[in-house]
This record gives sequence, structure tokens and C-alpha cells, in this order.
Amino acid sequence: MKVFVTREIPQPGLDLLRKEFDVEVNPYDRVMTKKELMKAVQGKDGLLCLLTDPVDRDVIYAEPNLKMIASYAVGYDNIDVGSATQRGIPVSNTPGVLTDTTAELAWALLFAVARRIVEGDGFTRAGKFTGWAPMLMLGQDFTNKTLGIIGAGRIGTAVAVKSKGFNMSVLYTDEQNNELLDRELHAKKVPLSELLNKSDFVSIHVPLTKQTHHLIGEQELQMMKRTAILINTARGPIVDEQALVKALKEQRIFGAGLDVYEHEPLIAKNLLALNNVVLQPHTGSGTFETRTKMALMAAENLIAGLQGSIPPNCINKEVFTKKGFKG
Ligand code: DGY
Repeated sequence: MKVFVTREIPQPGLDLLRKEFDVEVNPYDRVMTKKELMKAVQGKDGLLCLLTDPVDRDVIYAEPNLKMIASYAVGYDNIDVGSATQRGIPVSNTPGVLTDTTAELAWALLFAVARRIVEGDGFTRAGKFTGWAPMLMLGQDFTNKTLGIIGAGRIGTAVAVKSKGFNMSVLYTDEQNNELLDRELHAKKVPLSELLNKSDFVSIHVPLTKQTHHLIGEQELQMMKRTAILINTARGPIVDEQALVKALKEQRIFGAGLDVYEHEPLIAKNLLALNNVVLQPHTGSGTFETRTKMALMAAENLIAGLQGSIPPNCINKEVFTKKGFKG
């Protein structure tokens, strides 16, 4: 069988695939255009794609023999899962292996913004540090503060659990109660408005859907404390980027830490001009260990799907029940 991989991924994942299939990898170190992607899937049985690939209906229907799509990411808002399901194509993602890594980046951004690390580094390198001063570059404490988690799934939970060392109170929004957070951290599930009102730090961990698009806009930013910090390691369009720029410019919140952007990879010029925001190039899962685990997981899913079993991390298991597959 033939598979197409839309960009070079860590070698162990490619090696695993090459043991089973004829593997073709995007030869360019860049995101493929939709046209290139549609051409590349022709004649392939399987596709291993990234979160940057627009795997829409056209791509999914570009090859009648396409049997399986394995994504190298946990978020799959770039894939038209509905069309894949209609065509009976299983789609998989890489949950779990990147949970702590992404949670750690949320904390890294929080530290950087609260203690003005990037700003301080620039200031010091520029030779502006002329001696200790009582009011120099003051930031925000963490200890005994309130952490607000929007979306207490795997990553949101991991971010909250890591707050233990700072003796924080935890508030969260979610459809369901999170027993671990309730039990271990005495966390409280609250409506979004209450979370925004009461939290010192707000960290976003919901997937991007029609319902979460611009979940945080002008009105929500107005509800936050003037000393609050907003962290987004989930997906850019969950935050109305221009409303955030306005809030940061007017210092209606203390700062923000962003790993994702509304029109990624484009970043609004007026966001780049601000120094109360720390910007990271979507590296939530970007560690050597985790990216290797993701590559192996995506490869294992693709192998399982193409060899006729239910991929361990299948998002649309209904394709198997539809086909009468017992698993
Ligand atoms: C994912 O896997 O969805 C993350 O955004 C990767 O960093």
C-alpha cells in the first residue's frame, strides 16, 4: 500500500511506516498548498497529515481509494471529519502523549508574562540595566492566586494540577464536572463569566469548534481583572485577536501569552508591536520526546487503519459500525 506524509516527521515514525508501506514524504520543508495536497493523495491508500494541512472535502474526495487519515496532532479542526466519515474513512489523532508538554508551555508562557521575562531579557541585553531599582519591571505573583481553566479536558487538567506548588485556587469551565480537579484541588466548576471575573490567570484549553470560535472577545476581556493574564495554547480563532490587541494596548489586562494565532501563521502587526504579550510559534507539543511519540502514534494509527483494525486513536469510530465492523 502507498501512503503520503505531508511533511518530514521524526524518523522513528517514518521508519515504522516504511516497514509496512511504500512511503512518500512531501519533499519541501513547508506546508503544502491544497492543490499540491490533492495531487499528492492521488494513488495513495493512506494520508499522514499535520494540523497545518487543510484536509477538507476536496482533499478527502481527491482519491477514491483513500482508506485512512492519521493526523500528527491532537486538535483536528483542520480536517473535515464529517466528509471522511461519510466516505467511511477513519481519522485518528495523537491524544495523551502531548498533554504534559503542552501544559508545560502554558506555564512557561504564564511565567514569562507574569515576570516579564522576555521584556527583561531585551532590556538587559540592550544595556539599559543600570542597577537595582525598587520599581523596575514589576510583575505578578503566582502563590495563592486564582487560576481559571477554560476547558478541563486532558491539557486543561494537567495545567491545573501543576498549580499545586503555588497553592492556587482553581476555577474551571467544562460541560462535565472534573472529579480529579474537584477532589485533588478542590476546584470549582463555574460559568465562564464568573471564571473571567475572579481569575488572576486564565488559560484556554477547549478545541476549536463553531461554538468556541471567538469565545473570548471584547465583552469577555472586559470581564477580566486589570491585573489578569490570558494564555492561549489551544487554537488562535478561539480568541478575537483584535479585541485582545485593544485590551492589551489599553492595559485592560496585564498581559497575554500566545502560542496560537487567529490567522496562523500570519500575526497581526499591532500584536507584534506590544510588549505585554509573549509570542511563541505554535510549539505546544514541541519537545524532542513528545514529537517522537506523536510520530510513532500517528504511524501506529495509520498502520492499524490500513491493515483493517480500528486505529487506537480513531476519532470517528462510527465508520466501523457503519460498515458492520466488529473490531
Ligand atoms: C496539537 O497537537 O493540536 C497541538 O496544537 C500541537 O502543538
